[in-house]
Amino acid sequence: MEQEYNRKTDVELANLRRQHQLILNSVGEGIYGLDTQGNTTFVNPAAASLIGWERADLIGKSMHAILHHSKPDGTVYPREECHIYAAFKEGRIRRVDNEVFWRKDGTSFPVEYISTPIHDEKGNLVGSVVTFRDISQRKLSESILQRANEELEQRVAERTSELSKANKQLQQLNEVRSRFVSMVCHEFRNPLNNIAFSVSSLKRYNRQLSAIQKTEYLSDVEVNIERMTQMIDELLVIGEIEPKGIYINPDQLNKVDFCQELITEFKQTNPNCQIKFMSSQAFLKAGIDRRLLRSILTNILTNAVRYSTSDRAIEFKLSANNNCAIFTIQDWGIGIPKSDLDTIFEPFHRGKNVSNIPGTGLGLNIVKRFIDLLDGEIEIASKVNRGTKVKIKISLQNKS
Ligand SMILES: Nc1ncnc2c1ncn2[C@@H]1O[C@H](COP(=O)(O)OP(=O)(O)OP(=O)(O)O)[C@@H](O)[C@H]1O
Ligand SMILES: [Mg+2]
Repeated sequence: MEQEYNRKTDVELANLRRQHQLILNSVGEGIYGLDTQGNTTFVNPAAASLIGWERADLIGKSMHAILHHSKPDGTVYPREECHIYAAFKEGRIRRVDNEVFWRKDGTSFPVEYISTPIHDEKGNLVGSVVTFRDISQRKLSESILQRANEELEQRVAERTSELSKANKQLQQLNEVRSRFVSMVCHEFRNPLNNIAFSVSSLKRYNRQLSAIQKTEYLSDVEVNIERMTQMIDELLVIGEIEPKGIYINPDQLNKVDFCQELITEFKQTNPNCQIKFMSSQAFLKAGIDRRLLRSILTNILTNAVRYSTSDRAIEFKLSANNNCAIFTIQDWGIGIPKSDLDTIFEPFHRGKNVSNIPGTGLGLNIVKRFIDLLDGEIEIASKVNRGTKVKIKISLQNKS
């Protein structure tokens, strides 16, 4: 009876052991057991294959020395610091996912492991069981995700700064535009007032005025109309309206006389300025659009006066070379910083050193576009606090 009972128990025990063995053999995770010394008591096939060892070669050996001897950076991992060791020393479960296990061939893989202490029926600590899995794929996905996130964050930051820059530029542009509009209104009001004054004088004193006086009033009206036409031309260019819209009228022009008249007119609106005109020719006649040339030279002269600091006279030279008229305007003012020279023809660009000298930064842009219309060339040479020399070359050949 007792024999029969023992035989049955043995069979049950063997079945149970087989069942445990089957479970251990079939799970995909690595599982190994340790005694209280940290030596291996059992290893499942997954654990052995994950670290590239034969199971038989691991039994009785220190698992820490085999797969946990070094930290991820390759430095020694002392057993006393190891979480697995701590698990069976303190009798507490440890779960770790930021370490590596080493293979027999010297390579390593990121691992997630749980170390669980084992107690016997009396509650004595007899060792621990460690379950682990290779988390290379997970780490790889995490790092890809993190990199993608970082890239995304970087892109968002870049876009945000681009947007805020564009926004700032837009604000500046709006400010410049509104300043420009009020300046234009102001500029138009002057010649309009002059015309209104001349016309009302002619009307009111028609009988009292001499013929010469009447002609003077009329030519004053003419000058102011010309000034306003010039401003309209400039506005058309600024408003990006087709430059073709500006009619090029190559009237025969004695440029020497033209320059002298221009200077006289210019001095009326800028009474304090000193301009020394020199011409290598007594007479220089060619077909060229009077309105465009007037606008070009007035803009350059205005700059020379506006950015001058000394009393030294502005030099305005006219010469001819290779069938071209060359206008050179030299001032002795604040000059243009080197870093601004390359972009000086861009709309709204102003030199760093203008401080509170008023201006919109459109004059040279208009000049450049008008010179292009005339197939001419412009060169600016400048030194800060030494002055600026603007050279304009326009063909003397008739342009039709
Ligand atoms: N003769 C000069 N001396 C020093 N700086 C100059 C001179 N001419 C042009 N500049 C620089 O070039 C910039 C652009 O000139 P531009 O004539 O286009 O505009 P602005 O004079 O500022 O305004 P505006 O539209 O009223 O002419 C000026 O703001 C100034 O910094
Ligand atoms: Mg200007």
